[in-house]
Amino acid sequence: MIKQIHLIVGARPNFMKMAPLYKVLKEQGDRYTPALIHTGQHYDEKMSKLFFEDLGMPEPDAYLHVGSGTHGQQTARIIERYEEYILSGNRPDLVIVAGDVNSTIACALVAKKLHIPVAHLEAGLRSFDERMPEEINRVLTDRISDLLLTPSEDGDANLLKEGVPAEKIHLVGNIMIDSLVEHRIKADGSELMSELGISENEPYVLVTLHRPSNVDEVSGLEMLLSAFNEIGKQIRIVFPMHPRTSKNIERLGLSSKLAEIPNLIITEPIGYLDFMKLQMNAKFILTDSGGIQEESTFFGVPCLTLRENTERPITITQGTNLLVPLDSKSIVQYSMKILRGEVKKGTIPKYWDGETAERVVKVLDEWFSSTGYKLRATSYEGLIDERRD
Ligand code: UD1
Repeated sequence: MIKQIHLIVGARPNFMKMAPLYKVLKEQGDRYTPALIHTGQHYDEKMSKLFFEDLGMPEPDAYLHVGSGTHGQQTARIIERYEEYILSGNRPDLVIVAGDVNSTIACALVAKKLHIPVAHLEAGLRSFDERMPEEINRVLTDRISDLLLTPSEDGDANLLKEGVPAEKIHLVGNIMIDSLVEHRIKADGSELMSELGISENEPYVLVTLHRPSNVDEVSGLEMLLSAFNEIGKQIRIVFPMHPRTSKNIERLGLSSKLAEIPNLIITEPIGYLDFMKLQMNAKFILTDSGGIQEESTFFGVPCLTLRENTERPITITQGTNLLVPLDSKSIVQYSMKILRGEVKKGTIPKYWDGETAERVVKVLDEWFSSTGYKLRATSYEGLIDERRD
């Protein structure tokens, strides 16, 4: 029987993880029918639609329009709407969630309580910092998932330490790299650099910031802007700004401080292909993103991560990433070292090779034909309708 699979996307970092999996599942039409479910956590054209176009994804099969709100509001709205969607005749055989955003935990929870198996793509990552909302989403999603698809060996080790049975864990590799490999040449053709007035060999640093711990309070944000001011005296800065960050700069009265930074190009959030081009050609990257730590490791571009910790330590042990102490002096010092040519070299981790989606399908094939799955499916039959009461 053909298995119906829901692929959940909600926020920007989900799109490049699900696009390759959607494509490969679609090619296996004799066994799988994938459906893209967009919660609408990110809804701006530049945070969402542009990515669908760049990644060649079709329109979502369902769009839940949850929008922004507090964590409680947003998570609750996703739960309510996704449950309703499933109960109105759209019950899949498996739900696949990715990463660590609010849409990830919300949809995993809905599926699990309706006795639908859940697979978590990018399982096992841990920052061990529970102040980070994403850490809570990761831990809880892993705890209730039936299949834990990990990007790197440290993910397997974390899960085993937490007592997850080994048969649930599958090292499939980093699916974001599938998108990079597929779109790299197209990205190289992006005209964005010339549109921004950056000439071919001109060095620049690419900056991204959006973590609440960096941008929600005046002291942290002011400190970062002071560091950028110093760095801007030495090298051009390109800063595509996340909506959370631009709203906070205005709210916290820091617009004039931003305007004083020399050599700064600010843009709105930019699409996938243009952003790849900016990453590939950057002298180095300053970021608090999770995914960019990985993409820069793949491209071999030095990355300075503006956070106290990372859930992606392999980008430090093997890749080009470094954690920078969160004070203006250190950020400037680390940046100047790179400008002097003291650059950290890296290697590309195992299975970051563009073939992760194929490995996921192999895991699914084996799992759906296993005795464990069949036993599980039979034991849940008949329970489903009771859930409407
Ligand atoms: C979310 C994820 C984070 C991910 C990031 C990538 C969670 C807990 N966080 O954080 O892990 O790295 O996405 O961007 O899920 N907004 C818009 N337009 C949009 C979306 C958001 O203007 O399309 C504004 C809203 O005012 C909103 C704010 O940005 O309040 C933050 O959006 P939200 O989805 O709550 O979290 P992110 O900071 O984007």
